[in-house]
Amino acid sequence: MAVSSSRSSDISSQNNYRPLTDSFGRVHSNLRVSVTDRCNLRCFYCMPAENVQFLPRKELLSFEEISQFVDCMVRRCGLTKVRLTGGEPLVRQDLHQLISQLVSIPGLKQIGLTTNGILLEQHAERLFEAGLRRINISLDTLDREKFKQYTRRDNLDQVLAGIEAARKVGFPSLKVNAIAIQGMTEDDLVSLGYFARETGIEVRFIEYMPLDADQGWEREKVLFAEKMIQILSEQVGPLQPVEAPQKNSPSQSYEFVDGQGKIGFISSVSKPFCAECNRFRLTAEGKIRNCLFSLEETDVRELLRANAGEDLLIDRVMQSIATKKEGHEINTANFLQPERPMYSIGG
Ligand code: 5AD
Ligand code: SF4
Repeated sequence: MAVSSSRSSDISSQNNYRPLTDSFGRVHSNLRVSVTDRCNLRCFYCMPAENVQFLPRKELLSFEEISQFVDCMVRRCGLTKVRLTGGEPLVRQDLHQLISQLVSIPGLKQIGLTTNGILLEQHAERLFEAGLRRINISLDTLDREKFKQYTRRDNLDQVLAGIEAARKVGFPSLKVNAIAIQGMTEDDLVSLGYFARETGIEVRFIEYMPLDADQGWEREKVLFAEKMIQILSEQVGPLQPVEAPQKNSPSQSYEFVDGQGKIGFISSVSKPFCAECNRFRLTAEGKIRNCLFSLEETDVRELLRANAGEDLLIDRVMQSIATKKEGHEINTANFLQPERPMYSIGG
């Protein structure tokens, strides 16, 4: 794949270039790839407590299949960003090998990993060496008992060690993601607010979405960004929006006015960012989803395994993108929760 670095700027002049534009004019250049549905935690807002049916190994896309798909999307469709998710992506063996393969795709500008951090201490260095630079770590609380309550496991120390290891290795982009649930997150907000100030790591709070396996979500259980800003301002320090928000980023960043510490809010429920959405998803078993909340999916594994060729593959992806809805309808009576919970979609 030795191609000159000018190639990415040449892409749109190729006549077989097919941008992934949906019927609302949104261009899809950001792919989230789930590499496994397995997880070593059981967060209550994502997974059931027990009896989880995981996919058999042979159902999963191989690293080669994932890389082949991404390479095609980058060259032919203008994909520029990929984020690896799970389940927990680090339970997939030798994930650094997939990172190396993706790093060698010219034109792929950003590769990120979203992990719960448990296995990060042992993998941080190898991931960095493979070329990974961006890691988001999910951590909802700094309190050991509450961690057990959220995740049904006792692994807070490993997660903290994972964050520390990633800092030491020197990842230039390291963020913490925390869920925002009314009646639970209020105290965590404050301690994670101080954590952001002390470590310089941006902590982003994600409004609780109806993607839990237990179907226990209710709108009243969401802690909204506006309320979080109020609590943080009162109990940690005043916040101000960071100027020049990143285009297409669902997160709105704030900083404490003394310049010490950054907090982000992903207001998926109170301020949906669907109109700006440029994302689509590839599940661990090779299905395309055009939205976290879509009720339909489109298989590409069959085409990859049959060596069906890039044109047919792109046709399939376009079929999915073309039918993307204008937005999720969480805030309406029409909302239907997808059957697949978060861990099996890929967070
Ligand atoms: N609502 C909001 N965020 C969720 N996540 C998992 N389930 C939900 C949900 N129901 C988040 C995790 C992790 C990321 C992969 O997705 O907290 O940060
Ligand atoms: Fe695992 Fe992430 Fe789901 Fe928690 S939220 S159970 S860490 S996949």
